[in-house]
Amino acid sequence: MSVVFDEKKNYFHLFTENTEYVIGILYGKYPLNLYYGKKNADPDIRYHRRYYAFCPFYDENGEIFSLDTVSSEIPCFGSGDLRCTALRIKNNDGNSVTLVKYKSYRIFGGREKIPGLPYAEADDRTDTLELILEDTVSGAEIHLYYTVFERTDVISRYVRIVNNGEYPFDIEKLMPLALDLDGRDFDWISLYGSHSNERNVQRVPIHLGSQRVFSRRGYSSAQFNPFVCVCEHKASEDKGDTYGFNFVYSGNFLSEIEQGQEEKTRILIGLGDENFAWRLEAGEEFRSPEAVMTFTDKGIGQMSRNFHKFTRNHILPKPKKNYRSVVLNTWEGSSFDIEEKTMLEFAIEAKKCGIDMLVMDDGWFGRRNNDKSSLGDWFVNKEKFPQGLKSFVKTIKSTGIEFGIWIEPEMVNPDSDLFRAHPDWVIEVPGREHNLSRNQLVLDFSNPDVTAYLKDIFTKTLGDVPFDYIKWDCNRHLADVGSNYLPKNRQKETAYRHMLGVYDLLSWFRKTFPDAVIETCSGGGSRYDLGMMKYGEMIWTSDMTEPNCRTYIQYGSMLPYPGATMSCHVSDPNGDKYEMDYRFSVAIGGMLGYEFNILTVPEEIKEMIPKQIAEYKIYEPLITNGDFYRLVNPDKTGCSSYYYVNDDNSQILLSFIQTTSCKLKNRKFKLKIIRADKNAEYIDRRTGKTYSGSLLREGIEKTVKDKYFADIMYLTKK
Ligand code: GLA
Repeated sequence: MSVVFDEKKNYFHLFTENTEYVIGILYGKYPLNLYYGKKNADPDIRYHRRYYAFCPFYDENGEIFSLDTVSSEIPCFGSGDLRCTALRIKNNDGNSVTLVKYKSYRIFGGREKIPGLPYAEADDRTDTLELILEDTVSGAEIHLYYTVFERTDVISRYVRIVNNGEYPFDIEKLMPLALDLDGRDFDWISLYGSHSNERNVQRVPIHLGSQRVFSRRGYSSAQFNPFVCVCEHKASEDKGDTYGFNFVYSGNFLSEIEQGQEEKTRILIGLGDENFAWRLEAGEEFRSPEAVMTFTDKGIGQMSRNFHKFTRNHILPKPKKNYRSVVLNTWEGSSFDIEEKTMLEFAIEAKKCGIDMLVMDDGWFGRRNNDKSSLGDWFVNKEKFPQGLKSFVKTIKSTGIEFGIWIEPEMVNPDSDLFRAHPDWVIEVPGREHNLSRNQLVLDFSNPDVTAYLKDIFTKTLGDVPFDYIKWDCNRHLADVGSNYLPKNRQKETAYRHMLGVYDLLSWFRKTFPDAVIETCSGGGSRYDLGMMKYGEMIWTSDMTEPNCRTYIQYGSMLPYPGATMSCHVSDPNGDKYEMDYRFSVAIGGMLGYEFNILTVPEEIKEMIPKQIAEYKIYEPLITNGDFYRLVNPDKTGCSSYYYVNDDNSQILLSFIQTTSCKLKNRKFKLKIIRADKNAEYIDRRTGKTYSGSLLREGIEKTVKDKYFADIMYLTKK
């Protein structure tokens, strides 16, 4: 059991392979975090009772104690903890003062499911602690779940709230993960960006006051990502105390860090309080999404590896076959110009090049010839596909290639039959003009009629079509958030209910088309989160496919997320063989695909594809399952270097990518492969050269050239 209750002390110990988390129940009432870090700590709850002047306090049998200075497992708003808080419930009296006290606990093997939401799957070394608390004024019963994923050093947390009172109340803020670290001397790392420029890395010292990343956009977004890392100032890739946090959710989020009068740093991960509130009637219950955390004293690289392994083993759908299909996506090659004849020509050419699958992107449905119309009209365009979709897909597959299809179910164009028939099915606010984005509106998935309609139309259109893959897009964010379906007192539930509807439709797709792989997408990587990863094997990383810019996006994406989920396509190399090679070298950081007009690309470029694919297929198991080590940070140097290594260190894929020209010419980098076996000899299968393991550990030298440049080494033990 990885959860142990020490009855004498009233402490709960949660153990992963390398870490420990300790909870103590102060005065039998208040669950406090006593410790999170390396294994075998011996914390003492008495040192957690501090008092500062001006802090509100309770008198516990003559002992003064303040909620404002302890590390509560669930800091509550308004009742004495005046820092940022995790739970705020507006009770029937109209005030939002909240206070929960400990009642009981339960320890069990495995985990509790979270119906309707994505969550991490248990394995044989997963155990859960459930703490049950109550607020006697509102009647809220709060269940805190701590699930320990022992093998990956990850602990997850989510909250279930039951209204045991007589009256309804409103959950106004809910952050399932709250943690107070000792000390203030930390940096924090977060990811920021925009369309085509996703997941840039920001590392700055944590300062007094509040700092936060968030989404108010309805989806997790490219602007910020829910992932944050908190680490010692001196933490590097391979040294230093490092904590990682993330949220298994794809909608609005808040990742909040605060420092105040104490030598402490508070971290909260959850739903936040903007654009969220949930009315809970007597007898009803509410479940939050799950937040996850990991700790390592071995630096930022190990934090990434913990999260990568966790995501592969507990989040991503189990692979359907033992290889990943290399796709040719039609978007950059033919845009909305989709029709039977060209698609067939694409398929024939792709097959000749060793490509596994043709993915037909936007433009096959309704009257969709540009981005102004037809989203919502999910019936095949008969002018483009006179024989219908089923017969077309059969013809495509008769060429020996697999087939994928693009959809964007959450959206509707005002110029569509669906909108004309159901103008009230969109997210909107009465009396306000619609804000458009890419000429589209968002369907209101809080309304079950909307998702039922989509299930029906997709059954009719795709039910008998033998496709193998879906690319699920989502090309705008939410604004004017209101629902025509929900009553007035539930309007603030719209965004959350919308997300539940999205997950419901995704689950339906997985059940209805169990053999299809799902690649999710949101104008590239605008919804790159653990929630989406639960339903889709891959995510289209970014609409930016220029390899030098892509290098930065991939570098940031891999801080929390594994390469197995990162779709990377080689786009048009402008007829240049050197560039084609460069693009390939960048794309094999993740899951390889191609995205250009295969009918017009020059012969000498086309000839390179089969060789590239054959090479990639050798590396693919390493990229999908290997351990990932970053060596050079492109933000600091203009060069990026990393390697993947398998469990027994017998295979290493080393990548060195130069993203700028001449500026750094002749600069030398020493790439230290610490996972190389010092007693072994390695051979680089690309050049045939041999290297001793000890030399690889000491570092092999790469010199910067005068133009964009990529150097890949595939080292195997002799
Ligand atoms: C988004 C996606 C692209 C493509 C287009 C189609 O921008 O990121 O890959 O699918 O939509 O409209």
